Amino acid sequence: MVDYKSLGLVNTRDMFKRAINGGYAIPAFNFNNMEQLQAIIKASSELKSPVILQVSKGARNYANQTLLRYMAQGAVEYAKELGCNHPEICLHFDHGDSFELCKSCVDFGFSSVMIDGSSLPYDENVALTRKVVEYAHQFDVTVEGELGVLAGVEDEVQAEESHYTKPEEVIDFVTKTGVDSLAISIGTSHGAYKFKPEQCTRDPKTGVLVPPPLAFDVLDAIMEKLPGFPIVLHGSSSVPQEYVKIINENGGKLPDAVGIPEEQLRKASKSAVCKINIDSDSRLAFTAAVRKVFAEKPGEFDPRKYCGPARDLMTELYKHKIVDVLGSDNKLAQLD
Ligand code: G3H
Ligand code: 13P
Ligand code: ZN
Repeated sequence: MVDYKSLGLVNTRDMFKRAINGGYAIPAFNFNNMEQLQAIIKASSELKSPVILQVSKGARNYANQTLLRYMAQGAVEYAKELGCNHPEICLHFDHGDSFELCKSCVDFGFSSVMIDGSSLPYDENVALTRKVVEYAHQFDVTVEGELGVLAGVEDEVQAEESHYTKPEEVIDFVTKTGVDSLAISIGTSHGAYKFKPEQCTRDPKTGVLVPPPLAFDVLDAIMEKLPGFPIVLHGSSSVPQEYVKIINENGGKLPDAVGIPEEQLRKASKSAVCKINIDSDSRLAFTAAVRKVFAEKPGEFDPRKYCGPARDLMTELYKHKIVDVLGSDNKLAQLD
């Protein structure tokens, strides 16, 4: 059993409380490799932002859970080296789909876990989530649950609306499970293709797709039922068109990739939404930088010469998200 506190990590409880009261959201960035982690820590440390490092099941399989945990532990020291004497870094298991996996993360030093039972029948979601909470809370590890299903690209618009979180279920779910935060579905979705072209309009000048707005009425109804309770948004990449353009101009093929407009996420950050998950935008930045190097310098074969620019572009992206979208800069409890 590894106690995350001995690693210098924190759970989400205090950071969420301050985020709700302060009208900002905590960035939850996924990482799978060293360059992503370096960029996340550089951006959050220099800007004095609390940060959630997310590890998915796929990341565990790709990079190895042990290695990722030690990297997160190293990240605490790296943040201090960067001049951030009191970093607030949470190591969170993203989209856990079984009690056993969540337990293994709790036992291994994660400070927060998500149990995603959103695709299960309601009662099974409650039972599974409750079981994870009962285990995790013994070790002061915080738990995120989910209600509602995030839209996928194959869904019809009608089906998508019916997958929104039902405000009438949230009190019962939170009470019965004891979760510390709740991921909801209000129109965000995972990946770089969040909407089908027929769900969008097109900007007449640029030809770029304009997605349908998030369902802020559903968010409002949920907040009314659960005043002051931490809400989480998954699938919140904005799919920056400048990265899509670089990728497409340098041998890539991402037609009609579209994300959630940043001004809508900014608006959400000012509400009880206190954790915003971003992964795809980092993948796009990484890919754009690497493709550019390969196109401009076909003789390059030193990974540092293309992973380095990728890391720089991701750092710039994370800084932009922290300052301009989430508003979490200078929000560490201790800024010195
Ligand atoms: O929500 C999913 C995250 O973007 C993680 O994706 O399962 O491909 O690692 P992944
Ligand atoms: P994006 O695919 O929009 O980046 O969402 C990431 C996410 O929700 C991770 O859990
Ligand atoms: Zn997600």
